[in-house]
Amino acid sequence: MKVGIIGSGGREHALCLSIKKSPRVNKIYCFPGNAGTSDIAENIEIDFSDLNRIKEFSIKNKISLLIVGPEKPLVDGIVDFFKNTEINIFGPDKISSQLEGSKIFTKKICEKHNIPTAKFGIFENANGAISFLDKTQFPLVVKADGLASGKGVYICENKDDANLAIKEVFDGKFGLAKNILIEEFLVGEEMSYFIITNGKEIKNFETAQDHKRVLENDKGSNTGGMGAYSPSRLINKKLEQKILTKIIKPTIKALEEMGSNYRGFLYAGLMIVNEEPFLIEYNVRMGDPECQTILPKLKTDLLEIIEACCDGNLKNLKIEWFNQKSLCVVLCSKGYPDKYNKDILIENLDKLNLDEGDFLYHAGTKKNNNKIYSNGGRVINFVSLSSSFKESRSKIFNHIDRLNWGGGFFRKDIGHKVINE
Ligand code: AMP
Ligand code: GLY
Repeated sequence: MKVGIIGSGGREHALCLSIKKSPRVNKIYCFPGNAGTSDIAENIEIDFSDLNRIKEFSIKNKISLLIVGPEKPLVDGIVDFFKNTEINIFGPDKISSQLEGSKIFTKKICEKHNIPTAKFGIFENANGAISFLDKTQFPLVVKADGLASGKGVYICENKDDANLAIKEVFDGKFGLAKNILIEEFLVGEEMSYFIITNGKEIKNFETAQDHKRVLENDKGSNTGGMGAYSPSRLINKKLEQKILTKIIKPTIKALEEMGSNYRGFLYAGLMIVNEEPFLIEYNVRMGDPECQTILPKLKTDLLEIIEACCDGNLKNLKIEWFNQKSLCVVLCSKGYPDKYNKDILIENLDKLNLDEGDFLYHAGTKKNNNKIYSNGGRVINFVSLSSSFKESRSKIFNHIDRLNWGGGFFRKDIGHKVINE
């Protein structure tokens, strides 16, 4: 069968490699893909915002399954767009995608269904939000409502920080702002919990922890993610039951009541406070780089899982995992997440000796005359699977040393909470 993958990051290269392993797949198209996907699939130069052209191409080339990697096309309604076609599309519809597209949509579901989350207020204008600051405690969190590529969240230590955040959001830094969210600051440890669901059945899809900040010791600006590890050190059976019964199941039920039919991955960003889970945010897709970190641990054929989800057969499917520790380090272009250089040649990729258990996923790369150049802020993901996080990380450092790419930088402390130096 022919499969299409939408997106161009490390997540999509990882999805592409996993799908490629399935014996029933004979062709993969990536819209638009990167230098890594071009080795195993055909990259199609159609931007993923151009839904009409993707549809036209998919029908003409007899693609039977489309897998959507990033949030933007999901929030824009790509799944609804393919509804009356022969093509199966894996991802939530437009109603459900608001879980990621609007933080206020999610908070309202939490309120209505008693889902544990930080206490919050929604304000329609700056004056209302600013006068609330007199009655509250710091630190607090100010959030823009819509998609903001990992930005749009301000942790405010005092009134000055909060005033500035409110001003920036209402001034349109993250697009037109009709509302703003102000939240209680939760103190605990974060964990990402992934599931796959068809809107009724739910299957766990592993846990991970990413490192969002650009600098070591989790300092500096927020990024898409500088690295991750899986599993999270926090997960256990009891906590998992609480996450499912208090957070995930009521959410899926609420979406069903709204007339939506969630079909895809769901990523819950949680704060664990004294062994109790609180929802911080939902993403309606796999994380990046969590996807790259988790997929190498998957024993079961990914295509079978996605098809079972699309066909309403998840319940009878057993998803199996390798019981190993996976760690991912993202090699970024100098300057990221602010202004960074592009078009820097990456040599030595063919000199790396990747062992079994080592994986290299391209993100912002492109090919030109058979040479590979950087083309984005996050450039290459190194993942290693072993019996310890420490061993995985040191194997990755050896590969990065050997690559010796002058254009890049990376965090040397990924996994610091699970690695004793
Ligand atoms: P979000 O984009 O909503 O995941 O927020 C980005 C980051 O801000 C999260 O990964 C947390 O580290 C932090 N954060 C967001 N909301 C809260 C909260 N209510 N309490 C503490 N930290 C938060
Ligand atoms: N790594 C965070 C995200 O994918 O949103």
